Amino acid sequence: MCLGIVGLGYVGLTLAIAAADSGFKVYGTEINPKILASLRDNHAHFHETGLDHLITEHNGKNFHSSGKFPKGTKFDAFIITVGTPLMAGTHEPNFGYIRQAVQSIREVYDGSQLVILRSTVSAGTTRNVVIPFLRDMCGKPEVFVSMCPERTVEGRAIEELTHLPQIISGNNSEALGMAEDIFTRITPSVLRAGSLEEAELAKLFCNTYRDINFAVGNAFCLSAQTFGIDGINVIRLANEGYSRANIAAPGFVAGPCLEKDAYILTHNMKECPSRDFILSGRNINSSLEDAAAEWVMHKANGKVIALSGMAFKGKPETSDLRGSPSVNIARKLYAMGCELRLHDFAAYPDEMDDLGLGRACRTLREACEGADALMILNNHEKYSGITREDLGSEDITVLDAWQVCGKITGTFTLGNMLLPGTEGGAE
Ligand SMILES: NC(=O)c1ccc[n+]([C@@H]2O[C@H](COP(=O)([O-])OP(=O)(O)OC[C@H]3O[C@@H](n4cnc5c(N)ncnc54)[C@H](O)[C@@H]3O)[C@@H](O)[C@H]2O)c1
Repeated sequence: MCLGIVGLGYVGLTLAIAAADSGFKVYGTEINPKILASLRDNHAHFHETGLDHLITEHNGKNFHSSGKFPKGTKFDAFIITVGTPLMAGTHEPNFGYIRQAVQSIREVYDGSQLVILRSTVSAGTTRNVVIPFLRDMCGKPEVFVSMCPERTVEGRAIEELTHLPQIISGNNSEALGMAEDIFTRITPSVLRAGSLEEAELAKLFCNTYRDINFAVGNAFCLSAQTFGIDGINVIRLANEGYSRANIAAPGFVAGPCLEKDAYILTHNMKECPSRDFILSGRNINSSLEDAAAEWVMHKANGKVIALSGMAFKGKPETSDLRGSPSVNIARKLYAMGCELRLHDFAAYPDEMDDLGLGRACRTLREACEGADALMILNNHEKYSGITREDLGSEDITVLDAWQVCGKITGTFTLGNMLLPGTEGGAE
């Protein structure tokens, strides 16, 4: 079978390579020339365990990448994997890339092939945006369309693509059958959604559930702090030996998906009480970033701040800076007039420099030199071995946001990072 994948970003490239490894012939298109150049050298443009090895194995054989699909090739299906970001400065999703991606298959699409939407979209987008567009393009009243959302975690995508149950859907039984035929060759089990909208919503529920779940821990932690009490200790007490409480530890929550999916879910939702509930989770999680920035300004004597853990998460390791809470915190501190040094164990220094917020440092020691405070902002496993000696400073204020720096003494955490005005405790 032959697949055409539109977009070779995180989702498109990992799926393309997993499909090539499962025996599909895969043609991927990408509009970013840097990504195509890096693929010519057998490299992904991001860090993903096992991916470069598989690219090397399949490049030029089962996997081909270019700016356009080759004419004359007989495709069985196209998979749209382009981004669905929020419009700049708003919380409204931008589905413009999806329209352009559908448009890009015009020369090789005749209406008989399956078109699978894999990007995360608001309920109804596949039916109301993609299907009419395809009908117009091929001039046929009946087209075959599926919504099969991506649910892998960055850093373990290759492993999860071949293990997670795949949610599939179709606008008719033929489309559903075609989607099933494709995904059962890649993953061991598929889950048939009752409609395109069920598949769209299931994906949004997965991510929004995580967002809200983390928000509970963050909300409790911040509320404990208004009493001058370490919220992490209280959450530990509440959870210990008590299976009915499983409160998440506090932590920053964002990344390229969680920062937007609650907005994509609520974007076209009819008025109902769950809207405020869902969005309050997002607000709590982003308010923790404000709290951390305010705290470090209050605590550190000067304004030189080292930020380490710039990628949006440390475990599984990723180089991805998109939607990173650490970048959001850096932006806030930069706007407050701080001088920043940026460090990460996996993110690429040139991408950190390109943020224009501060100098990218190759080592933690370099980042800490002359700094008043160090904020450890993700949970990369390399922090566990770091000592104060490694930082080159005995008295630098350290916020260990994920409690991963067991060997550094006298650190602050998100639990005892008391906000200005709360140090005195409850009145
Ligand atoms: N990153 C993840 O782990 C993840 C997980 C689940 C779902 N998703 C969802 O999947 C979608 C894609 O996410 P992503 O992280 O892969 O985004 P991405 O930005 O990394 O990848 C999209 C790629 O598509 C390319 N592109 C855009 N328009 C194109 C066109 N017309 N033709 C060819 N290429 C085009 C872009 O240049 C980019 O490289 C989003 O809706 C996202 O919410 C992402």
